[in-house]
Amino acid sequence: MATILEDYIAKHPGSAQRHLEASKLFPDGVTHDTRYAQPFPLYMTHGEGPRKWDVDGNEYVDYVSGHGALLLGHSHPAIADAVSKQVLRGTHLGASTEEEVRWAKAIKALMPSIEKLRFHSSGTEATLMAMRLARAYTGKDKIIKLQDHFHGWHDYAMAGSDRSAPGIPEASWGTMVVVPSGDLSAVEDAIKRDPDIAAIILEPTGAHYGQLPFDTPNYLKGLRELTAQNGVVLIFDEVVTGFRASPGGAQVRYGISPDLTTMAKIVAGGLPGGAIGGKADIIDMIAHRNDPDWDNTHRVYHPGTFNGNPLSAVAGATALEMIASQPINQQADAMAAKLKAGLNEVLNRLEIPGHAHGIASMIHVVLADCDCGREICTMSHAKISETTASPAVTAMKRGLQNRGVDIMGRDAFLVSSTHTEKEIDQTLNAFQETMTAVRADGLI
Ligand SMILES: Cc1ncc(COP(=O)(O)O)c(C=O)c1O
Repeated sequence: MATILEDYIAKHPGSAQRHLEASKLFPDGVTHDTRYAQPFPLYMTHGEGPRKWDVDGNEYVDYVSGHGALLLGHSHPAIADAVSKQVLRGTHLGASTEEEVRWAKAIKALMPSIEKLRFHSSGTEATLMAMRLARAYTGKDKIIKLQDHFHGWHDYAMAGSDRSAPGIPEASWGTMVVVPSGDLSAVEDAIKRDPDIAAIILEPTGAHYGQLPFDTPNYLKGLRELTAQNGVVLIFDEVVTGFRASPGGAQVRYGISPDLTTMAKIVAGGLPGGAIGGKADIIDMIAHRNDPDWDNTHRVYHPGTFNGNPLSAVAGATALEMIASQPINQQADAMAAKLKAGLNEVLNRLEIPGHAHGIASMIHVVLADCDCGREICTMSHAKISETTASPAVTAMKRGLQNRGVDIMGRDAFLVSSTHTEKEIDQTLNAFQETMTAVRADGLI
């Protein structure tokens, strides 16, 4: 019998050939680090709803979901219609537009903590601006970041990630204070120890949208109290959880109001886009006051050619208005719950150490046993990370791809409102066959 790797190579000759060509153009032949794959990544041609197709004609149930951006699935007709009409009306009018106003109102309607906002082209820009605004507002330089939490790839965001950091000046690291994730007393100590703390930024359901979760309700409540008492700006990075953890993100799901929120992905309806929003007096650090002293020396500068561009604006507004008025989240969450139960059942049946955990439409598989309640996993972060880096998990991902299922990263299923029981059943069959193949390869 062929191994998973042999099967992968045999099923994807078109992708192998495209990768050879792409390797002469891009480092590793890819345009995003997470698409790096051995022996080659897959090349997709198109997507529709919960499905997508590769250059060899293979069909996939898709859980990458546009790196989390596609809560409404691929090419949703309402978004395709809005974007195609807007293309004909202009993609950049070099001016303010009604579309950006509509987009902002749709965000505010879902996230009550947002009094004012500004748009960007990505989540990386949003977290960079959040840190700059907090620093300007408080007059302090340092930002607390939680170990392993991901906020994009700018210099400050890279502190405390699991990567080394060539190219990042030492001085920028010096302004970041990295503390263990989920440990309230570590945050308290950092704030008490250093009078120069401007803000804390975190993924509010734990690193990597809940892959490494913490005791979410209590931790967020504790952080809110601690930051309010000490004049530290609380930044929720809701780039993934925004409009997915609930229609109003993690902050509405857990009833905690941050000072600033960063958004991207779903906020732009599947097109490029990001936003920073929150308390008006912080966001208004960007505003002119017609006072040369303020405007030239205190005001936070915010250009950006594609900020609030009309294509992203109509896609984002259309998606968010649907999320506000239709059971989009309920559908995605219900299918994710069915998927999670099914994954746990398969692992149980095959007597493979492992479990699936997660909330809303974000499900993570860990190939190790845990007695958590399958929502907020209690296993140590070190153990989850170690397991996720194992060859068995690489084989699981490839094996699923061989059977027409594509997952996010190495362990995650991001479910959309277009996934139905049919896709979930197909996924669970593929999962059962895949895990049997991983065992046959001698990896578990
Ligand atoms: C929580 C979080 N913040 C920020 C970012 C960066 O967003 P972008 O890739 O749009 O720059 C990401 C990207 O995956 C993310 O997951």
